[in-house]
Amino acid sequence: MRKVKVALGGKSYQIYIGSGMLAQTGPLLKGQGFSGKLVIITDPTVNKLYGEALNQRLTEDGFSVNTLLVPEGEEQKSLGAAGRLYHELTNCYAERNTPILALGGGVIGDLAGFVAATYLRGVPLVQIPTTLLAQVDSSIGGKVAIDHGQLKNMIGAFYQPRLVIADTSTLKTLPAEELAKGLAEVIKSAAIGDERFFVFLEGNLDKIKSRDEGALEESVFQSIKIKADVVEKDEMDLGLRNVLNYGHTIGHAVESVSDFRIGHGQAVAIGMVMAAKISSQMGILNGNEVARLKKVIEKAGLPTEMPDLKPEEIIQAMKHDKKVRENKVRFVLLKSIGDVFVSDEVSQALVERILSGDEKT
Ligand code: NAD
Ligand code: GLY
Repeated sequence: MRKVKVALGGKSYQIYIGSGMLAQTGPLLKGQGFSGKLVIITDPTVNKLYGEALNQRLTEDGFSVNTLLVPEGEEQKSLGAAGRLYHELTNCYAERNTPILALGGGVIGDLAGFVAATYLRGVPLVQIPTTLLAQVDSSIGGKVAIDHGQLKNMIGAFYQPRLVIADTSTLKTLPAEELAKGLAEVIKSAAIGDERFFVFLEGNLDKIKSRDEGALEESVFQSIKIKADVVEKDEMDLGLRNVLNYGHTIGHAVESVSDFRIGHGQAVAIGMVMAAKISSQMGILNGNEVARLKKVIEKAGLPTEMPDLKPEEIIQAMKHDKKVRENKVRFVLLKSIGDVFVSDEVSQALVERILSGDEKT
């Protein structure tokens, strides 16, 4: 078992990482002073795989447990779904000190987190992420949100969990495409924060893909350490936290211009390569580093080339990026692997050249 602390003064919390951690949920909750009632929010797939056993174990540990089910899918990050959960929480007499356990991927974490932040003006939240993306990214740092129409994560809060339990053995049942989606964020973490971890990924991607326990635990632990460090320095996303969006400026635009035919992980993978090429063309990043990044992304089973989308549409879509300030698109760029900075000095002409594959001209 590994531990990472997110140091945020009175809002500090521990993240527990390791194979079999789910079985420790009861003792960890008691360690936080919780007893009596608690609510698990999860989806039907995760409930069958892990929720039913967790409910039973927590009951044996002396808790009074209610499980609330939410169907799967991004469309559940909605006011309607939150409204149904408020209703069910009232029905099971959830009180101010009744913890909500968000058991599942990022959709459950974001929705249950939003509900925890708002129900009775805030009840304790425990994140129990079961996808790789949720373990290394969405369960850490307190961003909780629902979508508003087509606009993702528009209504939300910064609401830190009291505890995060990342049981890496749950990743064994994760479909390969969901693992690859999380791997895009793992590679991002290494690229922005730690060259040694990047070297580890260069040598261990096959093990990670075959769900080797040690390799998974190390990848989740190192990625969380990098995110926790950034969140500690910029909890409210006022500056530095932008670096966590490496690959996401072009990535989000690719996702939306492709009408979400290209998924988040694939789009971020492409976005990371494009951002590295921009940095290299600006004379900042060595070309060998671009090649290393591409190789790791390919090994993870993710794309590295621009799909057949119009560069001008991608540039237009990028103008909706949340990092845009005074109409300037801000790019997260690499100086070297493990070292990153934010720039609003990237010319549109250069972006167009990179997106259309003309970078050598
Ligand atoms: P997801 O939550 O939709 O989960 C994907 C699928 O995997 C679901 O069908 C789920 O039932 C299934 N699943 C979950 N765990 C499983 C397991 N162990 N075994 C088998 N199946 C399992 O997808 P996601 O990628 O985890 O999360 C995406 C969401 O995360 C998006 O809504 C995104 O906006 C959000 N997000 C939030 C933050 C943040 O900081 N809050 C950061 C990144 C992403
Ligand atoms: N996923 C980006 C952040 O947490 O800020």
